Amino acid sequence: MQSPKLSLASTLLLISLHCLAIQVSSIDTLRQGENLNSTSQLISNNGAFSLRFYTPPNSNSTYLALWFTGRSRLSSPVWIGNRRNPIPTNSNPTLTLGARGQLTITHDGGGAPIDLYAGRSSEVENVTATLTDTGNFLVNSNGPAGLFWHSFDQPSDTLLGGMRLGVERSIKRNWTLTSWAAENDPAPGAYSMEWDSSSRNLVVRRRGAAIWRSGELKYYRDEAGQSRAEFENVGIGRDVFNFNFNFTAEEEEEYVMFTVLPFPGSPAPVLSGWRLESDGDIVDVDRSMFLARPDAAAEQPAPPPDSAAAGLRAWAGFAFAAVVLDLVLFVI
Ligand SMILES: *[C@@H]1O[C@H](CO)[C@@H](O)[C@H](O)[C@H]1NC(C)=O
Ligand SMILES: *[C@@H]1O[C@H](CO)[C@@H](O)[C@H](O)[C@H]1NC(C)=O
Ligand SMILES: *[C@@H]1O[C@H](CO)[C@@H](O)[C@H](O)[C@H]1NC(C)=O
Ligand SMILES: *[C@@H]1O[C@H](CO)[C@@H](O)[C@H](O)[C@H]1NC(C)=O
Ligand SMILES: *[C@@H]1O[C@H](CO)[C@@H](O)[C@H](O)[C@H]1NC(C)=O
Repeated sequence: MQSPKLSLASTLLLISLHCLAIQVSSIDTLRQGENLNSTSQLISNNGAFSLRFYTPPNSNSTYLALWFTGRSRLSSPVWIGNRRNPIPTNSNPTLTLGARGQLTITHDGGGAPIDLYAGRSSEVENVTATLTDTGNFLVNSNGPAGLFWHSFDQPSDTLLGGMRLGVERSIKRNWTLTSWAAENDPAPGAYSMEWDSSSRNLVVRRRGAAIWRSGELKYYRDEAGQSRAEFENVGIGRDVFNFNFNFTAEEEEEYVMFTVLPFPGSPAPVLSGWRLESDGDIVDVDRSMFLARPDAAAEQPAPPPDSAAAGLRAWAGFAFAAVVLDLVLFVI
């Protein structure tokens, strides 16, 4: 139940941290030899995503974190570069893009440098690392070599629009979400969400045991006549829910991904993500709203099919929170 909590103090803190950080830098790209340090950050061109070093509250560990700020205006990390290799706090971390295209975190807290991407075997010219408007942090060259590495291939706990969740047979590795260990601890936690290719369901597991299934993708037309697809056990009503999934099956890989459809009444396309929280809840990161509560469902009888009502209640809660936030911003 962490996400929708909006204490005034933490909101103010987040907003002021956000403003502080924004003054430092506003570029979206690192060139070779350039680096990101503990006081600088990359910001995507559309302003929705940023990449910077982060120490969670009450923690002695620092992480390279990619942040998303949605309509709820609460920023939260949607990707962690070094969740298995925390850096001791106050050890002066630096992320550098090297001559072979490698992305490396160095720090003076002891221990070897951390390679997020080990790079090519020899030097390559004109390589850049860019934080895109979709929240993908990618290393690529402007030459024919193209894309070298991207964060969308290394999911943490959040699926963003355009990211794949599925099975990569070719390299015997899957695109899977893994929750944080606890609210302020990005280490891999108890819950995972994966694509089950036999049932064509998303499956949430707690320490390996399946506790929840998404149901199959259902196709329908919305009120505007657009063809859409949502999972049986997640679609919480056409007016509230705006994820449109699609499924791709090829010989070597099989995956689902989504685009976010504009919410009725909102003209611009919106960005969002599904986060698998440390208690197993699945939350819409744009609106801080529950999409599914797998662990609660595992312990209680199945909820009645009219869970749209629950979604609407969550939406009303969000609207209220948004009003409170607007007031806070107004006062500032
Ligand atoms: C981080 O880099 C910026 C320039 O890119 C520099 O002005 C700043 O002093 C550096 N901060 C630290 C802590 O090294
Ligand atoms: C952080 O370090 C301090 C001092 O060594 C220690 O007392 C504290 O328990 C540590 N906190 C965590 C969350 O590990
Ligand atoms: C690198 O970029 C420069 C300037 O755009 C260009 O002249 C050069 O040919 C590029 N090198 C390679 C290997 O693509
Ligand atoms: C599936 O969605 C992605 C965006 O999330 C889009 O780029 C792609 O074109 C879509 N594929 C199909 C077959 O609609
Ligand atoms: C990937 O997922 C498939 C089925 O969905 C499973 O059979 C396979 O064991 C998984 N592979 C890995 C490396 O987790």
